[in-house]
Amino acid sequence: MPLYDVLIIGSGAAGLTLALSLPDSMNIAILSKQELTEGSTFYAQGGISAVLDKTDSIESHIQDTLNAGAGLCHEKTVRYVVENGPAAIRWLEQMGVPFTRAEDPDGSSHLHLTREGGHSHRRIAHAADASGRAIETTLLDQARKKANITLFAHHIAIDFITTRRLGATENRCLGAYVLDRKQQRVKTFTARYSIIASGGSSKVYLYTSNPDGSSGDGIAMGWRAGCRVANMEFMQFHPTCLYHPHAKSSLITEAVRGEGGKLRLPDGSRFMPKYDERAELAPRDIVARAIDNEMKKRGIDSVYLDISHKSKDFILEHFPNVYENCLKFGYDMAVEPVPVVPAAHYTSGGIMTDLNGHTDVTNLYCIGEAAFTGLHGANRMASNSLLECIVFGQAVSKDIIRQKDRHYGDIAIPDWDESRVTDSDERVVINHNWDEVRRFMWDYVGIVRTTKRLERARNRMKLLLSEIDEYYSNFRVTGDLIELRNLSIVADLIIQSALQRHESRGLHYTLDYPETDPELDSVDSILDPIRF
Ligand code: FAD
Ligand code: SIN
Repeated sequence: MPLYDVLIIGSGAAGLTLALSLPDSMNIAILSKQELTEGSTFYAQGGISAVLDKTDSIESHIQDTLNAGAGLCHEKTVRYVVENGPAAIRWLEQMGVPFTRAEDPDGSSHLHLTREGGHSHRRIAHAADASGRAIETTLLDQARKKANITLFAHHIAIDFITTRRLGATENRCLGAYVLDRKQQRVKTFTARYSIIASGGSSKVYLYTSNPDGSSGDGIAMGWRAGCRVANMEFMQFHPTCLYHPHAKSSLITEAVRGEGGKLRLPDGSRFMPKYDERAELAPRDIVARAIDNEMKKRGIDSVYLDISHKSKDFILEHFPNVYENCLKFGYDMAVEPVPVVPAAHYTSGGIMTDLNGHTDVTNLYCIGEAAFTGLHGANRMASNSLLECIVFGQAVSKDIIRQKDRHYGDIAIPDWDESRVTDSDERVVINHNWDEVRRFMWDYVGIVRTTKRLERARNRMKLLLSEIDEYYSNFRVTGDLIELRNLSIVADLIIQSALQRHESRGLHYTLDYPETDPELDSVDSILDPIRF
């Protein structure tokens, strides 16, 4: 393997933006543990937020983000991201992303902007209801054209190689051990700079809008390498996923509510106005909790999302993919309400970084959903995530370009050691533990929590972690085992952060501390691996 200038773990919006923003003189490797397009980015629907209209303002976008974040956003980060928003959209347009446009009376056109929860203006640029697909495929096409970028599909990173692991006191990242899933061989990737761009961890929950790969690998790898993580208790549940036994990961974009969709009970009545004056357009934590409450109180399996008052033409123009998907499962959005439930959607916490994407480990950066930059606080506002991916992808590229010392050092890196492991004869353990984690996370660490349930989850987690550790030391690594190990560590970080927070705020709601404690304004839940 050559020494890469930059090793990027993840080929989503964050990783690709970084790679495309670095100079052609740099030798870059991008890894994806599955097909290159397979990450949350590809499935994003609503779009990407930025101030793009004369009636809107930077201050308003900042204020909406701070409001949604319920006292925990880092204002400096919010300002940085929002101020860089319009340029991020221009960059995506230059790359060729086909955003939906609206015609002006004089025959010219402008970006069509939609609206989502928490936003006081229309400020979501989108490509119909498949914005992520447009962004992912466009950026990937651009990356494929670059001779300095090598794309490695089906390569799953296992762990970072750090000087501390090799016995030094300083902690510098030297690259990563990576399983080539096709060849079933662990390779050593060395790099001057390594980047976690591996997405979120919503797969820790039984029901999620995320693709299967969202197992928090980068967060767990960073944690094991010595990075602090923050605010992991703030897992976001998207209010409206299609309720159907076979509709796995079927999100119904918030833009449906932005364009007038209403939430209804089985008898057709609305319930959101009694929870919040913004009704269906309140921030996600409020809407998801309201739905959860109505479902539990009434013993119903779902509530309903209704946009049937709009014309079929309107629905087909704005939501062609959502419409088709619902129809596939027997629901015609144009004539009837569609059953919906909340599902785990977004990891608001993650590996702590500064405004340059630096983590606690030298030469290791983190961007995208895996990162905790302080942007989202206790609740991410809709469509701010893709924006964060682009803005921080570009911030890290600038930081890497600024680095003067590109010296790697003369360090002997040992090959991956498989001398003491055998092939597993008990694969059932992996499947069983995988299911168990996801189920008790859903039942005990979900939308509404209690200390007792969290403690129960923590006790189960301790047992599972030691079982998985033992399994990991005895058997040859596989993709499933790598993911299970990471998923369990991240689940434990979520539980521990939730146990630490003795209040309810944003996405963290506990019956034992139902009020927000003003003393905890601006106080993040930070977990430090050195203390564990
Ligand atoms: P991802 O796009 O998730 O990519 C992760 C990459 O890391 C993948 O290439 C994966 O293969 C790779 N990877 C992971 N682990 C490893 C490993 N161990 N080794 C090698 N590679 C690895 N946000 C918005 O702002 N607007 C929206 O409209 C919106 N809609 C959404 C709809 C859905 C259904 C979902 C699931 C999310 C949505 N989000 C939206 C959130 C947003 O899409 C994600 O937060 C964002 O795309 C994350 O991008 P990323 O680059 O950090 O990671
Ligand atoms: C959606 O389209 O509802 C998802 C938007 C987001 O997660 O930001």
